[in-house]
Amino acid sequence: MIDINDRVFCEAAKAKITTAEAAAALIKDGMNVGTSGFTPCGYPKAVPLALAERAKTDPLKINLWTGASVGPEIDQALTAAGVVARRLPYQTNNDLRKAINNGTVKYTDIHLSHVAQMSRYGFFYGNHDVDVAIVEACVIRDLGNGMIGIVPTTSMGNSSSFVQSAKQVIIEVNTSQPAALEGMHDSYVPLDPPNRKPIPLEKVEDRIGTPYIPCDLCKVAAIVPCDITDKVRPLGEIDDEAKAMGAHLVEFFKNEVAARRLPSNLLPLQSGVGSVANAVINGLVNSDFENLTVFTEVVQDGMFDLIDTGKLRACSGTSLSPSPDCLKKFYDNVEHYKKYIILRPQEISNNPELARRLGVIAMNTAIEVDIYGNVNSTHIAGTKIMNGIGGSGDYARNGLLTVFFTNSVAKGGAISSVVPFCSHVDHTEHDVDVIVCERGVADLRGLSPKERARVIIDKIANPKYQPLLNDYFERACKECGNCQTPHILSEALSFHDRFVKTGTMEK
Ligand code: COA
Repeated sequence: MIDINDRVFCEAAKAKITTAEAAAALIKDGMNVGTSGFTPCGYPKAVPLALAERAKTDPLKINLWTGASVGPEIDQALTAAGVVARRLPYQTNNDLRKAINNGTVKYTDIHLSHVAQMSRYGFFYGNHDVDVAIVEACVIRDLGNGMIGIVPTTSMGNSSSFVQSAKQVIIEVNTSQPAALEGMHDSYVPLDPPNRKPIPLEKVEDRIGTPYIPCDLCKVAAIVPCDITDKVRPLGEIDDEAKAMGAHLVEFFKNEVAARRLPSNLLPLQSGVGSVANAVINGLVNSDFENLTVFTEVVQDGMFDLIDTGKLRACSGTSLSPSPDCLKKFYDNVEHYKKYIILRPQEISNNPELARRLGVIAMNTAIEVDIYGNVNSTHIAGTKIMNGIGGSGDYARNGLLTVFFTNSVAKGGAISSVVPFCSHVDHTEHDVDVIVCERGVADLRGLSPKERARVIIDKIANPKYQPLLNDYFERACKECGNCQTPHILSEALSFHDRFVKTGTMEK
């Protein structure tokens, strides 16, 4: 067994060290299992793999709750073993996505800031909270009085709340995660209404909690040594379209600063997941902006580049989400990056109160937008889930300025990312201020729906689809007598219908 004696600084806790198989045996059919992990970072690995193995001879189903997407040791292994009955709140795994879209797994796609409090209130299936929490740690501290401090690793996600309310806790102490990560986290669980107080965070760099997750040792059912690494993934190449979006955004920010609508170092930046989001942050790396702050969910490569170029003062998130090269750079210089990065529970990193207080600039990617500025972030052709809403709604609804990015076309031009009506709406026109694509910027602030339609078709739609969109909009205006939001109901989803039937939205 891997030696974790130099990671567990509590003699009483050492008595609970056991194998992944023994820990997996504690999980019973029908349980709600809450794990650490957010993107392929900081999630438990050995126990889920042992559970998948056990299910081969002892089939069982669990309801699986995480921070967001996690690595293949959880989503892929447990889906393949048929263990996942229900899943929330976000995923990006191909096999799990297929299982959700063929009805094998029931998926609840919710705002990431809501998960912890909803679970504490028993809002989820079964009407009770977490049965077993499985969390990854790099170190365990003795806090005295029968309490231990669990020091998380490369993410915080929902671990603080899951540990607080779970009946049993399993801790994986992962020796592939540097012990030096200790000090990077800020664990804080708000009280629930009606006793909730204001969250005492006023600046991105404020610390309001503890660098460990406090836990009663009596609840710890097993401590499992593990040395399996985070399965971080490479990011897509920054293509010309993404570069153009980054350049448009920087230009837009410069104009906002010149017009005194934003301070010279902008406001705390939130940047979404995926290649486009990372590429857009890269645009800022190559800009003249300095003394920037980030209040976001995932800390991707672009944020590390901002730190490296001396442009970033402070970065708050709930998880790292680096490429393999960037993770290595981080591990080699943990003490340096720790000065800039704070990892918080997602209940805090994505908190609406804080996004509004700090005046976050919310920047996320859309699958499609419609001519009035509604945004679809989650569904392909209105029916099949891609990933989930993630934290995009937490920030889009509550930030000071809400920006969405999209390429004007997808799938080599067969799909227009601007459609008459979104086939699924995650963010309504009321929450969308600015849309950026490779062609330019649609600034929708203060415009009426019909004015928004003109700007979106003009600035964002691909020239190949502009005639079709203009034709739809003009006929819709005529048909409904110039009403507030013109639509031809029988045609509103005609672009999608055409794509499903012919493989292209073109006529
Ligand atoms: N119709 C069909 N498919 C589309 C599409 C459309 N309108 N627009 C994009 N796609 C496809 C792309 O072709 C690509 O497919 P592939 O994986 O087969 O190549 C895939 O969707 C991803 O698109 P890509 O352009 O690579 O963007 P991305 O990696 O930046 O991801 C989202 C975009 C929207 C899927 C992703 O940002 C997401 O899941 N967002 C929701 C959650 C969120 O915003 N979280 C942030 C909070 S911090």
